[in-house]
Amino acid sequence: MLRPLTEADAPAVLEAVLASAAQLRRRFAWAQAVLGLEDMRRFVRAKTGEWEAGASSTFAVFEARGDRLVGVLSLDPIVRETLKAQLSVWIRAGEQDKGYAVEAGRLALEYAFRKLALHRTYARIDPSNRAARRVGQKLGFRYEGCLQGDKRLGNRWIDQECWGVLRADWKPRAK
Ligand SMILES: CC(C)(COP(=O)(O)OP(=O)(O)OC[C@H]1O[C@@H](n2cnc3c(N)ncnc32)[C@H](O)[C@@H]1OP(=O)(O)O)[C@@H](O)C(=O)NCCC(=O)NCCS
Repeated sequence: MLRPLTEADAPAVLEAVLASAAQLRRRFAWAQAVLGLEDMRRFVRAKTGEWEAGASSTFAVFEARGDRLVGVLSLDPIVRETLKAQLSVWIRAGEQDKGYAVEAGRLALEYAFRKLALHRTYARIDPSNRAARRVGQKLGFRYEGCLQGDKRLGNRWIDQECWGVLRADWKPRAK
């Protein structure tokens, strides 16, 4: 289940981030910093404002049968002029490989293409991130090429694979 992230989720997001820190630090620059509750509240407030402005949509991912937060998925940025958005997702350590990212991604694509009527959704994936590449494939994303040294993580430059899907090619239940 996806629902917009709210400030009340900040403690649960922080707990999930801290529990997954080693893995998230390998992928996201923001996870390199030591995060506290006030940082998380500030982050959620910023994302809520961006949602209201139509600049991004950040969702909390929950188990459908419980109220446990298992991750965060974002369409960020959303560019209204070119009707495109970047999708990214993380699922907490201990809850991975259960299908959550694919299920959440499918819901997010429905939202992006049906509700927001976007033309294109894309992702940037580290070449070493086999799980993310598999999630992209299962969502119907196509490999488009690789940007060399496009991302900075600590003192390393990392290539970024470009994956994308157009609304015209999107199949809601793509395998
Ligand atoms: C990438 C990530 C979001 C995947 O989440 P997930 O909920 O575990 O993914 P799913 O359970 O939906 O699995 C999707 C596919 O990936 C495969 N997969 C999962 N972990 C894998 C791994 N370490 N290596 C290779 N494939 C893997 C699964 O087997 C499944 O494929 P299958 O159905 O063909 O078996 C999760 O690993 C994560 O949060 N990683 C850290 C943050 C990150 O890298 N985010 C992506 C940034 S774009």
